[in-house]
Amino acid sequence: MSTEKPPVELVKGINGLDKIVLREIRGCSAEVYLYGGHVTSWKNDHGEELLFVSNKAIFKPPKAIRGGIPICFPQFSNFGSLEQHGFARNRFWSIDTDSPPFPTNSTSKAFVDLILKPSDEDSKIWPHSYEYRLRVALGPGGDLMLTSRIRNTNTDGKPFSFTFAYHTYFSVSDISEVRVEGLETLDYLDNLKERERFTEQGDAITFESEVDKIYLSTPTKIAILDHEKKRTFVLRKDGLPDAVVWNPWDRKAKAMADFGDDEYKHMLCVEAAAIEKSITLKPGEEWKGRLELSAVPSSYCSGQLDPAKVLNG
Ligand code: BG6
Repeated sequence: MSTEKPPVELVKGINGLDKIVLREIRGCSAEVYLYGGHVTSWKNDHGEELLFVSNKAIFKPPKAIRGGIPICFPQFSNFGSLEQHGFARNRFWSIDTDSPPFPTNSTSKAFVDLILKPSDEDSKIWPHSYEYRLRVALGPGGDLMLTSRIRNTNTDGKPFSFTFAYHTYFSVSDISEVRVEGLETLDYLDNLKERERFTEQGDAITFESEVDKIYLSTPTKIAILDHEKKRTFVLRKDGLPDAVVWNPWDRKAKAMADFGDDEYKHMLCVEAAAIEKSITLKPGEEWKGRLELSAVPSSYCSGQLDPAKVLNG
């Protein structure tokens, strides 16, 4: 009898919350909580965790889980009438049993389709009807792929607009040893300066203090180089022109109840997003935003992602 575990399994996670485990033959895995449609784990074939989740994360509504990949929808940040980062990250999603087929170029069975629709309460704070389908898939090589498809199902003929982010928390060995490539020379809005617009100067981005920036018109590929771990994360995105880079550093870390005082040293958020220009959908229209993450040994050629050298491919 085979002891092999199934590629997709529904189990109970922390506090009895439903969680989907995805597994690939070579040993890579990912975990997705139905609470938030939230990826909380992504491991390579050595069983090493690649995402950061705080030791103090609260797995209990209404608090969003601190770490992993929270989904920010229909509003990124608190610019707007809704709560910070919207409500998708603290709603219970369902498994989408009759999801229309997604075009897929992989034979992997390790994926799950989730769906979020507005409750009556949600319709009071955001008066729109929508279907949000999220596919989380683990590729044969261990890549993690998230595809969001959001459809306007309003019957009153009205369009709606939203902003969006995959708020990915990467696990890093030491933030002071990390650099991000692909964003240098780009314009950004500084969240620490009331979203004033600046242009990034100089080389790849490194970290020595709090950072909270929305880079604009970013290339489709961004790399996070972790020298100590000798690991590079490559983020590929589609339909998501912006990229948020966030690290709270020591002072903000201390102010967050669900985040350890020193944990800022071991995480970095690089968030594929659509913020500066909101997405507008007419009834019947659908938007798609895709994120693909890979983690590779750092033989990666530094400088490759300088936007001046990359042809958005
Ligand atoms: C980032 C924002 O995306 O998320 C920051 O740019 C914010 O301004 C951070 O502090 C965390 O937000 P939250 O709501 O999860 O504490």
